[in-house]
Amino acid sequence: MNRLYYGDCLTILQEMPLKSVDLIYLDPPFNSDRSYNAIYKDETGRPLPDQIEAFNDMWTLDEERERAIRHMPILVREAGIDDDVAQFWKIWMNALRSTQPSLLAYLSYMVERLIWMKGLLKPTGSIYLHCDPTASHYIKIMMDGIFQHGNFKRECIWSNEDSSGFKSRASNWIRGHDVILYYASNAKKTFFEKEYFPLVESTVNRYDKMDSEGRRYKIYKNPDGTERKSYLNQERGRAVSSVWTDVPSFQTVNNTGEYMNYNTQKPVALLERIIKASCPPYGTVLDPFCGCATTIEAAHNLGRKWIGIDIAIHAIKRVAKIRLEQRLNLTDGIDFEIEGVPRDPEGAQDLWNRDKYHFQKWAVEEIDGFVTSRKSGDGGIDGRLYYDLQGYGDLQSMVLEVKGGRNVGINTVRDLRGVLERDTALMAGLIVLHDPGERKRRNFASEMAQAGDLEAYGLHFPRMQMLTVEEIFDGRRFKIPGQARGKNSKAQQNLIDFASSP
Ligand SMILES: C[S@@+](CC[C@H](N)C(=O)[O-])C[C@H]1O[C@@H](n2cnc3c(N)ncnc32)[C@H](O)[C@@H]1O
Repeated sequence: MNRLYYGDCLTILQEMPLKSVDLIYLDPPFNSDRSYNAIYKDETGRPLPDQIEAFNDMWTLDEERERAIRHMPILVREAGIDDDVAQFWKIWMNALRSTQPSLLAYLSYMVERLIWMKGLLKPTGSIYLHCDPTASHYIKIMMDGIFQHGNFKRECIWSNEDSSGFKSRASNWIRGHDVILYYASNAKKTFFEKEYFPLVESTVNRYDKMDSEGRRYKIYKNPDGTERKSYLNQERGRAVSSVWTDVPSFQTVNNTGEYMNYNTQKPVALLERIIKASCPPYGTVLDPFCGCATTIEAAHNLGRKWIGIDIAIHAIKRVAKIRLEQRLNLTDGIDFEIEGVPRDPEGAQDLWNRDKYHFQKWAVEEIDGFVTSRKSGDGGIDGRLYYDLQGYGDLQSMVLEVKGGRNVGINTVRDLRGVLERDTALMAGLIVLHDPGERKRRNFASEMAQAGDLEAYGLHFPRMQMLTVEEIFDGRRFKIPGQARGKNSKAQQNLIDFASSP
């Protein structure tokens, strides 16, 4: 069945059957802080505070990256990468360590994922990696090693120039293209459906003769001097080259109803071109960084099977899922499955057992919070829930602590109260996987009550609150002040609900 996975693609790629995919298209993080910050901002409409986990955090040589780099020789050997290439990488990576450590971190992140992707491709499979000139030449060196230089097919240029004139004051050439690197598993791989544009007028005009049946033709001279008729109605058109100028980006055109407001969203037409060319009918397409599911929509339109993966829950649950249901009329559980997102407390327990960090991330994101960067060391806090509070200046946050273990005691609540006093936050929320039971609940409540209430918009909000995972599944959320935007707005409605709750 077609599947959407929530999680780091590395983990999911490692569990997929080898040689099972016809086409991989990936549009991974590759650019700047700005891009990834913008993902959050545009998805949620909320600004991005410093502490949250932004993807650029990955491009530092932290402990996780160092571990991956240490493990690389084994991975490289297991993937059958040529020894000379491996030697070259070693020297090159050592040089990068002192000159461009963040690039080294990024490349090591990409290499470990690309190696797993290679194992998933069928012998007739293809991979297209979408990036921009900031990293394309570095990635190409790595891809040449992993997929072999002989299997490199094309560097496609997607011209996504912004014709709105918005950037015309830039003091440089306006950045106008992305790079898409195309490799086949095997150099002899066939190309499926070639696309053609209509012939230009000057070419059509060269068919200036007409036969007795009214068909237009021109005459070629063969090397032996004989002549051959070439008919206009047999011309397929002008074959699409590796430079694609006919697919506008959403910066230029976003009024087609296709734009999901996902900052890095690519047009379906771009993906349809790639899929038609490189995935056989009824074949399987994998997008390990699927964002708002553009590849999936294109694969669905063309009758291919698909698998999409994204690490951001809002991409999977709030954008991709909605796109599949509303634009493609697909039904979750019947036409496709979502994996990795707990659907009930047992699923949440299972996630906790498998991956504690992922569980905390899920719990924070499930209630619309932002996960704290592992690197920022934000006072042991697992996340923050942001809200606007008139009269208090900037955006305010509720600090979040997530506990998955069974023995959550009063000290956890006291510690969280300590955090609240040290932090600039006005509120703190505790999420627990297991209901602590009646007696503990009473103790927790009296400790939390000592933190007092926050008064806003004429209402009182407890500064410390607790939610169990079960309550989250029942639709309960922390009560935080929202910016009232109108009588019928959701924020206003929340306030009304809260005001009327006991
Ligand atoms: C450039 S966007 C892809 C946009 C996509 N092509 C579209 O049209 O919507 C990159 C995506 O990769 C996701 N991502 C980042 N790191 C990831 C990882 N390790 N595993 C899976 N997804 C990841 C981000 O959440 C983001 O949605």
